[in-house]
Amino acid sequence: MELVGTKCVLRPWRADDADSLVKHANNRKIWRNMCERFPHPYTAEKAKVWLEEPIHRAEPLTAFAIEVDGEAVGGTGFSIMDDVHRTTARAGYWIAEPLWGKGIVTEAFSVLCDYLFATYSDVHRVEATVFEWNPASCRVLEKCGFTQEARMRKNCIKDGEVIDVFLYAKVRE
Ligand SMILES: CC(C)(COP(=O)(O)OP(=O)(O)OC[C@H]1O[C@@H](n2cnc3c(N)ncnc32)[C@H](O)[C@@H]1OP(=O)(O)O)[C@@H](O)C(=O)NCCC(=O)NCCS
Repeated sequence: MELVGTKCVLRPWRADDADSLVKHANNRKIWRNMCERFPHPYTAEKAKVWLEEPIHRAEPLTAFAIEVDGEAVGGTGFSIMDDVHRTTARAGYWIAEPLWGKGIVTEAFSVLCDYLFATYSDVHRVEATVFEWNPASCRVLEKCGFTQEARMRKNCIKDGEVIDVFLYAKVRE
């Protein structure tokens, strides 16, 4: 399945994305803003592990490659939380550094959220968390209609620093 925007297409990750994944994801500036599941260095072996994950065969799909000019240049996706939070999804995204600032993730994430709410009628809230040093990501979320609900003080450790994390959310209208 494909979700088509004007700047990019969201589509399933494929085994033949390995080279572009390594080329674009092996970047410390990206890793520094992602949770630890996103590896660094992003080697060919790590790409293979990601591309073989069962989530790429899930129905409905929850993980998408962001494709620009026929190449997978980033990713966006979500997971549905469990227990009493099963009506909430937690989402994220990244894109290759040369493409920063072109509005691509704003479009991709907006398309993803529309798909999520349309596909999962039981989900009423999408959350995203942003490290304190990442204003560009805060801006993306604001442009996608998210509200900053909290600054969670000393909420996590990244790159050796205990840092604050912004909590953003968008709820079903
Ligand atoms: C954050 C990231 C996803 C943004 O993607 P993008 O495609 O460049 O985002 P967009 O171009 O759609 O929008 C970026 C916005 O941030 C703004 N911005 C960029 N740097 C900024 C800064 N230092 N301070 C404030 N705003 C900033 C841009 O001006 C733009 O806003 P505008 O349209 O109002 O001018 C991308 O930089 C990235 O992949 N970073 C590394 C991984 C990451 O941070 N993932 C998110 C984890 S929460």
